[in-house]
Amino acid sequence: MVATVRRQRPRRLACWALMTVLLADLLALSDTLAVMSVDLGSESMKVAIVKPGVPMEIVLNKESRRKTPVTVTLKENERFFGDSAASMAIKNPKATLRYFQHLLGKQENNPHVALYKARFPEHELGFDPQRQTVYFQISPQLQFSPEEILSMLLNYSRSLAEDFAEQPIKDAVITVPAFFNQAERRAVLQAARMAGLKVLQLINDNTATALSYGVFRRKDINSTAQNIMFYDMGSGSTVCTIVTYQTVKTKDAGMQPQLQIRGVGFDRTLGGLEMELRLREHLAGLFNEQRRGQRAKDVRENPRAMAKLLREANRLKTVLSANADHVAQIEGLMDDVDFKAKVTRAEFEELCADLFERVPGPVQQALQSAEMKLDEIEQVILVGGATRVPKVQEVLLKAVGKEELGKNINADEAAAMGAVYQAAALSKAFKVKPFVVRDAVIYPILVEFTREVEEETGVRSLKHNKRILFSRMGPYPQRKVITFNRYSHDFNFHINYGDLGFLGPEDLRVFGSQNLTTVKLKGVGESFKKYPDYESKGIKAHFNLDESGVLSLDRVESVFETLVEDSPEEESTLTKLGNTISSLFGGGSTPDTKENGTDTVQEEEEGPAEGSKDEPGEQAELKEEAEAPTEDTSSPPPPEAKGTAAPEGEKAAEKDGGDKPEAQKPSEKGEAGSEGAPPAPEEEKKQKPARKQRMVEEIGVELVVLDLPDLPEDQLARSAQKLQDLTLRDLQKQEREKAANSLEAFIFETQDKLYQPEYQEVSTEEQREDISGKLSAASTWLEDEGFGATTAMLKEKLAELRKLCHGLFFRVEERKKWPERLSALDNLLNHSSMFLKGARLIPEMDQIFTEVEMTTLEKIINETWAWKNTTVAEQAKLPATEKPVLLSKDIEAKMAALDREVQYLLNKAKFAKPRPRPRDKNGTRAEAPLNASASDQSEKVIPPPGQTEDTKPIPEPEKEAGSEAADSEPLELGGPTAESEPKEHPEQPTGQKRTLKNDEL
Ligand SMILES: Nc1ncnc2c1ncn2[C@@H]1O[C@H](COP(=O)(O)OP(=O)(O)OP(=O)(O)O)[C@@H](O)[C@H]1O
Ligand SMILES: [Mg+2]
Repeated sequence: MVATVRRQRPRRLACWALMTVLLADLLALSDTLAVMSVDLGSESMKVAIVKPGVPMEIVLNKESRRKTPVTVTLKENERFFGDSAASMAIKNPKATLRYFQHLLGKQENNPHVALYKARFPEHELGFDPQRQTVYFQISPQLQFSPEEILSMLLNYSRSLAEDFAEQPIKDAVITVPAFFNQAERRAVLQAARMAGLKVLQLINDNTATALSYGVFRRKDINSTAQNIMFYDMGSGSTVCTIVTYQTVKTKDAGMQPQLQIRGVGFDRTLGGLEMELRLREHLAGLFNEQRRGQRAKDVRENPRAMAKLLREANRLKTVLSANADHVAQIEGLMDDVDFKAKVTRAEFEELCADLFERVPGPVQQALQSAEMKLDEIEQVILVGGATRVPKVQEVLLKAVGKEELGKNINADEAAAMGAVYQAAALSKAFKVKPFVVRDAVIYPILVEFTREVEEETGVRSLKHNKRILFSRMGPYPQRKVITFNRYSHDFNFHINYGDLGFLGPEDLRVFGSQNLTTVKLKGVGESFKKYPDYESKGIKAHFNLDESGVLSLDRVESVFETLVEDSPEEESTLTKLGNTISSLFGGGSTPDTKENGTDTVQEEEEGPAEGSKDEPGEQAELKEEAEAPTEDTSSPPPPEAKGTAAPEGEKAAEKDGGDKPEAQKPSEKGEAGSEGAPPAPEEEKKQKPARKQRMVEEIGVELVVLDLPDLPEDQLARSAQKLQDLTLRDLQKQEREKAANSLEAFIFETQDKLYQPEYQEVSTEEQREDISGKLSAASTWLEDEGFGATTAMLKEKLAELRKLCHGLFFRVEERKKWPERLSALDNLLNHSSMFLKGARLIPEMDQIFTEVEMTTLEKIINETWAWKNTTVAEQAKLPATEKPVLLSKDIEAKMAALDREVQYLLNKAKFAKPRPRPRDKNGTRAEAPLNASASDQSEKVIPPPGQTEDTKPIPEPEKEAGSEAADSEPLELGGPTAESEPKEHPEQPTGQKRTLKNDEL
């Protein structure tokens, strides 16, 4: 691909090498908007963009750093983000929020809420009774939900990306931890909506990392499966992922590389933050110890001191990764008392011993979920900042039994890079080399329903049924249809998580509600009344687990079938009928309804479910709609899939804006038709006595959300507005600050200028005193009243001062410009004169310029010389403190006028065709035109080099001996250097030595 990098920014060489690889993979299709990715870590976010011409780059923030703290400071009248907010943490611990993602999608009784309160007691958390969630109470007036805070950060990440890309950005891929459940994912989506971001996908951060790894090693992937383990220990959590890479055959793009998530294990609270907190606690203890007996207060009760300690703990932890010991040091930690203490790595490891014991946990879980053994894993690769802790590596190395741990990806940026590759793949603006991504469901989802059955005559009982909808480690995105076959009246069913036994009891409590939604159907009975003569094919519920891992119930339909005569008349009647109700083509291979003898629900397999490894009887009869992608990065072909997903089509369908499988398209148009194959030709139709007619009635659905209710639409809109207002306020505040800074800078700089010689030269003592006095007054005003001044007032004050100093600055500026401008004018005059002289020497027969043209040029040259001489003389007489009469703009105007005239003649010469030369009988040239005078004729001879000719009265530079410029080739000013010294204008500076091109003056 061809791509140009428009901006030069400091970046690493290695990064460039990677970029070069990706240039081949990314092709910008148009100059449309850039897309971005945000790897939203607990501690820091890494933002990347891709735009036509600038493929996949990590965004540098305002401080030119590649990581931005996920931190916001919320004050009454202003907000700070990223590094600025992080530096406010000590001054404003209560208003500076960090690690708030740990509260997303959690209800108040969640252990993570209690953990947050314990870790950050400086924050006051309010309770929202409607959603049973918490919010930050910053002050009596200020309160924000975790979604709102996240939305602010996402908006900020966008502003960083936009500044970097130098264009607006709306589309983003956002990473989430793989262990995020439905409520947590929806919370991120809601935050993005508030920020006005279009989320192309929420991608699991481990999948994004695996994608980045695969994309950069595309050539190493072949048909032999390679299993790679990624161990990501970040700030907040740890995730271990087993990924299989291999090439697979895709429908449209042939053999392509694929990554499949095979196993995932995680620890939601194991990470760098917990280590820091342990260290902080240790340092706090040491400080208290140092002050024992002084009746000092416990440092833990002082939020500012604790913020200082946390920052120092972070620094200390990082230094201890490379050193055996280090001295923690904080000036004025509390009550102006300094703190100093040596901490060894051994002490740190002791403090975190139980944490290090947890390092192997995620590895075991990942292996279990993948049903793999360690010897099947080729390599274990480190990801995330906290894997830099030596003890983590030591324990992990032992746990995985390898010779070494792979450090061959950028542990900080891989997820952001993978996510932005995905963003490019999903955006219409880029064509991306296919890389098939098969992500896996971590938390199984099932459908539960209860039905009254009659086991023996007269004995009725309730039977509880469960059907797995999306199995653990099954692939997604995926659509599934479940068919309820024995209902003819309204009923309810429940969508719940499946077996979460792999989570420990504590993790289960953190997980929250295991019930997702109760679905109440309305209109089942009516649908039966509507089609009394049809046979019911069941109530079909269409589910979608989309590329963000978010479950939705697309629609519920009541489906009926009947056999109809296949006559043309009837067909048209039915078509009419079909236009009034939605109907559905069944898949050709769809078997007739299979009765499930044991219960009342029937699960149909309506799509090709090749390669399914799902347990028979559980899921095999669920339909998985055939619309998974081919060549893209969103969903996979299924060579050894646990569940099934046809590899082709999903992306195309998404991009087309459609979300229904091809086979169903006709039904969307309300057509009715026979089930199965395309319409048969006439003759065949005649042979067929009857065919199946399928009718579909949409069923009303009421959803009762049981895990965590989404923010109601009106509240979402209010939040979006609230955040927009804050952004506007911030912008206005920034503008005001800019205005105040400009005014302050102007006063300061001008006061300084008044003492510089070039300013003193063009001003009187009196003038300087006047300006200085007014500047001082403005400075006092700014100090005394500037705080309350509006942006307009500050701008007005600056305008007044600029006006006051305008004359002085103008005089200085003009003087600076004169030498260069006058020299350029002289040059132009010299060359114009030479040009004119040359033009006049052209033999009349060949002459291409008219006399009027040459006279006009001559006149302009003369007038310009005269103007220059007079004005320069006049200026010389004027005192320097007065407004000059020699103005650079006038010189420029004179030059432009002269240049225009010369250009005109040059152009004429350029395009002039040589005149035909009539020959007489003897083959000699014809005589000159009749009007040519004798002297004219004598002048047709071009003088030989070195011979000067002064036939014209205009002041013209004399040629130096040996110069052939004007003589040998009158129009070819690009000859030898022309150096001239006009005798008539003694003040004219010597012409600059310069070779001129043909059309250049
Ligand atoms: N040299 C180092 N030694 C020890 N710890 C380090 C080092 N460098 C970074 N860290 C720690 O790594 C953590 C940040 O890692 P990373 O950026 O991967 O986390 P994150 O993506 O913000 O969080 P998460 O993925 O858990 O949500 C911090 O706790 C930081 O202190
Ligand atoms: Mg991370």
